[in-house]
Amino acid sequence: MPKALYRKWRPQSWDEVAGQEHITQTLRNAVMLDRVAHAYLFSGPRGTGKTTCARLVAKAVNCLNPDLENRPCNECEHCKAITAGRFMDLIEIDAASNTSVDDVRDLRDKINFSPLRDALKFISSMKSTCYPPRPSMLS
Ligand SMILES: Nc1ncnc2c1ncn2[C@@H]1O[C@H](COP(=O)(O)OP(=O)(O)O)[C@@H](O)[C@H]1O
Ligand SMILES: [Mg+2]
Ligand SMILES: [Zn+2]
Repeated sequence: MPKALYRKWRPQSWDEVAGQEHITQTLRNAVMLDRVAHAYLFSGPRGTGKTTCARLVAKAVNCLNPDLENRPCNECEHCKAITAGRFMDLIEIDAASNTSVDDVRDLRDKINFSPLRDALKFISSMKSTCYPPRPSMLS
């Protein structure tokens, strides 16, 4: 099956992210100094690289390359798994359509599992502006 354009062309390294140097430099430094925060909130218009940067952070933090400056290396087992979308500890949820109490319970269950493969668990939540659930959804 041919790859959809957004999968084919999504930047896989910091250098490929265009026009967001202030963001990528900050994130790069955090990785390099081993001072990555517990959470980041990316905000901005659609299609400007929020998901792309979130995946790059997840990749850099889980990358096995001993040289922190070269993370993500895109060559180690973890980087390849993330690129291929088969890295168990990177969970992406679409907050726009996962707003029920059961969805949140499900997420909590997933978070409670220790990460596989000696990696950090990453939750990337898209459209988090849709949180918290509306009262009508709580019943
Ligand atoms: N700053 C950027 N540099 C290079 N490509 C980008 C950039 N922002 C978006 N893209 C391209 O647009 C697509 C969608 O970007 P994405 O990160 O999903 O946007 P967002 O999450 O902000 O809506 C990506 O696959 C990528 O190819
Ligand atoms: Mg997005
Ligand atoms: Zn790597």
